[in-house]
Amino acid sequence: MEKKNKSEKIFYITTPIYYVNDVPHIGHAYTTMAADVMARYKRLSGYDVLFSTGTDEHGQKIARSAEKVNLTPLELADKVVLKFKNLWPLLNVKYDDFIRTTEQRHIKVVQDIFEKLFKKGDIYKGEYEGWYCVPCETFWTETQLTDKVCPTCGRKIERIKEESYFFKMSKYQNQLLAYIKKHPHCIQPEVRKNEIISFIKNGVKDQSITRTKKSLKWGIDVPFDNNHVIYVWYDALLNYITVAGYNTDNEKFEKYWPSAVHLVGKDILRFHTVIWFTMLMAAGIEPPRMVFAHGWWTIEGEKMSKSKGNVVDPYEMVEEFGADVFRYFLMREVSFGQDGNFSKDLLIQRTNYDLANDLGNLVSRTIAMISQYFNKKIPRPVERKEKHDVDLKELALNTIKEYNIHMDNLSLNTALETIWQFIRRTNKYIDQTEPWILGREKTQQERLSTILYNLAESLRLITILIYPFMPEKAEEIWKQLGLESDLDKIKLEKEAYWGNLQPDTLVKPGKVIFPRIDVKKKATKKNEEKENELETISYDEFKKIDLRVGKVVAAAPIRGTEKLLKLKISLGKETRTIVAGVKEHYSAEDILGKKIIIVYNLQPIKIRGIESQGMLLAAVDNHDVILLTVDKDIIEGSKVQ
Ligand code: MSP
Repeated sequence: MEKKNKSEKIFYITTPIYYVNDVPHIGHAYTTMAADVMARYKRLSGYDVLFSTGTDEHGQKIARSAEKVNLTPLELADKVVLKFKNLWPLLNVKYDDFIRTTEQRHIKVVQDIFEKLFKKGDIYKGEYEGWYCVPCETFWTETQLTDKVCPTCGRKIERIKEESYFFKMSKYQNQLLAYIKKHPHCIQPEVRKNEIISFIKNGVKDQSITRTKKSLKWGIDVPFDNNHVIYVWYDALLNYITVAGYNTDNEKFEKYWPSAVHLVGKDILRFHTVIWFTMLMAAGIEPPRMVFAHGWWTIEGEKMSKSKGNVVDPYEMVEEFGADVFRYFLMREVSFGQDGNFSKDLLIQRTNYDLANDLGNLVSRTIAMISQYFNKKIPRPVERKEKHDVDLKELALNTIKEYNIHMDNLSLNTALETIWQFIRRTNKYIDQTEPWILGREKTQQERLSTILYNLAESLRLITILIYPFMPEKAEEIWKQLGLESDLDKIKLEKEAYWGNLQPDTLVKPGKVIFPRIDVKKKATKKNEEKENELETISYDEFKKIDLRVGKVVAAAPIRGTEKLLKLKISLGKETRTIVAGVKEHYSAEDILGKKIIIVYNLQPIKIRGIESQGMLLAAVDNHDVILLTVDKDIIEGSKVQ
């Protein structure tokens, strides 16, 4: 008999480590949630999992951002890292290790590898002359450019000419191609792999991997040369082996490293394959098992950017929709690897159709019927089965099988689709078997028992399968089913089979798991919020308002009105008439002689037959109206700026 090799069930999954120059956005949340889904799924499948994320804290980008806000780079990092660390639990992300590149354990690994490669002759000193994009922290050679802008992000690039250490990447070009050929799944998806292969075939050049301290101080020191710091990407990529225990815990490293899967965005795939694989080859370390590049989110069809003001803040999403709904939408909406479009309307639609209608209804109907017909006790099914029962059971087992295949391929949205086909089928089973009719007849108790058992059992299986995607909601359904075991510790192998649900378990009806989002109510709320929003004007708009100091030289009440005074305002060269609604607060005598502020270029209007040529300024609260006057005397007609 084949012996099961325990060590095969090891899974190491990583997210990119995020720059600390900015707060988290949907892109960071997306990769990290996807990694969490995979980590939870693998634990469910009985794997020993190591899941890491972290922050990338060195480099010019961080140094410049810190300078702008008058902080040291480390002070900035210490602040921003909390925004990431605090976000992950809110998104139900449960990692095993969070690495910061400023930690000693990491600095040591970076310096060790640098020294090792230098001694080996794979790192040498030379001079770098070329271009650099600070936002992308990327070196560009003349031949890679068509303009003086970064080919990746389109922003301005800078010219660099300085002494630099180089990594002999060119030496590994053929070895790299051979490796990829031999390990066809090491770069995914396939189209991206092909892009990388043609990039490599175009020629891999040696890579500048240090900056002089004259141009950048914020980095890890080259261990044997005090004038240089190590290039931020060279430093950052090594985080993956630091976490796995490289040079500090060999047993851990040997256990986890061979199973490493890096999830990254498509924009940073080249770093994670060409540079990273060759660095590892030079250091005598096997490349990771797989690098998977996911696509990018546009927001309502547009590129996400700060200048457009459309950056999706994950904190706000959790607050508005809850973590699991946000997770479900991002994992379900596009196939992992493709670009996607984020919009709140789409998210609301999915919530209402997939979650509230399909799954939510299945939960509430099942629990309600067990409560009503069997006094909350999950009934015992009878042996005799009908076609619908057999179909349902068969589909359940097929769903589990397919789910496993899709999850193992990182086809996260297809896995969800498969679960939803089963959810819809289960709802259909209710309609086909019509338990509410059987419930009226005493003679149908046995049939009803079987149907409700089958429903509860299907729901139990569904709950296990959705758990990696929506751990919090799964927990709630689990509890309503009366199940007390810890979902976190459940293993598919032990629990995901038909018939494991114990009859007589008492269900616990609870709150609605997925409330419908009322689109109309939401729109009204949105409008109200808009009204309360501070509307800003530009300086140019403000400049159009001409304010002047005027002296009240005559004042009289306007007969037949309670609030109006007719005022004559001297502006030096001219005198204007203004009708002002201040009589309840100022009598004609009070106001006479005051130097006040008026809007000089307001269009005249007729009030009570009198042309009012401007307006007074006053501070207003609930009780009072107080005229704005000048602090010291000044000539009439002076401008207010
Ligand atoms: N520090 C590097 C990674 C080093 S890993 C050794 C970095 N950091 S980052 O903070 O800029 O993170 C970028 C991650 O967010 C990338 O994986 C990128 O693809 C992802 N996204 C940024 N905008 C995105 C979208 N609009 N949509 C999806 N992901 C996007 O790069």
